[in-house]
Amino acid sequence: MIMNDGLKAFTLKCQQRVEQALDRILPPSTTLPTRLHEAMRYATLNGGKRIRPLLVYAAGQALNVSWERLDTPASAVELIHAYSLVHDDLPAMDDDDLRRNQPTCHRAYDEATAILVGDALQSLAFKSLCCDPCMQADARIRLSMVETLARASGSRGMAGGQAIDLEAVGRELNLAELENLHIHKTGALIRAAVRLGALLDPDADKALTHHLDHYAKCIGLAFQIQDDILDIEGDTETLGKTQGKDLVQEKPTYPSLLGLAGAKEKAQELIQEALQSLDAFDNEADPLRWLGHYITARKH
Ligand code: IPE
Ligand code: IPE
Ligand code: MG
Ligand code: MG
Ligand code: MG
Repeated sequence: MIMNDGLKAFTLKCQQRVEQALDRILPPSTTLPTRLHEAMRYATLNGGKRIRPLLVYAAGQALNVSWERLDTPASAVELIHAYSLVHDDLPAMDDDDLRRNQPTCHRAYDEATAILVGDALQSLAFKSLCCDPCMQADARIRLSMVETLARASGSRGMAGGQAIDLEAVGRELNLAELENLHIHKTGALIRAAVRLGALLDPDADKALTHHLDHYAKCIGLAFQIQDDILDIEGDTETLGKTQGKDLVQEKPTYPSLLGLAGAKEKAQELIQEALQSLDAFDNEADPLRWLGHYITARKH
């Protein structure tokens, strides 16, 4: 079973909350510039598993942070993720036509609009961490959140990982190089999601937050390994994006280096390591445990 009842209920609740928060934070498409605002909404409010927001809520729950305070960081990290997908799909990058089972942003609109959508979603994420009145947090916490998300999305995080990804096309990376690529392009934002949830409890035990961080590091890498596996094993309709692109575009992936079985084994090892780092937690960390299992069990 991919999702147990606990995870189903947790996912539903988080998704409803984050959809509502995103709808509130995104500018209305009736306001100028209407086409850009409409495209921002198109690229964000279009399904998506909302894994990063789920991790913000789950990390917050592990430290007893209230749901209301988690909506802002949950939506901020999803805005950055949505921006990263819009740019990832551009002709200059992965040149994809399908995302979340609908035309990619540059296909539905145009390339210039898609570039601006990414730019504007990124700014909106930081603006909302700075001053969204719905999040009760003092200036010090807000500043740490901005720093965490900025580091994770910048040239030493996701954007840097994307640069390494593009440079690696057609080249054979060794395992250490491939791990470095995946940790940056995908792992950094997933790690930031868990940190953002934890930052709302500034008095949290340092050992516990360290364990949470190790959990996040492991599942972040496992998440991209599973994405690589699904690019081979999945089908376009279930994935909502064109299957088989990595091979065609000569992307270095875990299955290309370790084989499918080797990649699956590596992902499982990482999930086990992630789950072990939650040993110090009681059942308040169950959503993090469920999400750990889900990351390698998922079919899309
Ligand atoms: C896809 O992310 C891109 C990667 C970083 C692997 P997701 O698999 O989380 O995509 P959505 O948000 O559910 O569409
Ligand atoms: C995307 O990795 C990582 C980011 C968007 C930062 P992929 O290029 O493998 O993601 P998909 O497969 O297009 O979703
Ligand atoms: Mg890519
Ligand atoms: Mg891609
Ligand atoms: Mg992929």
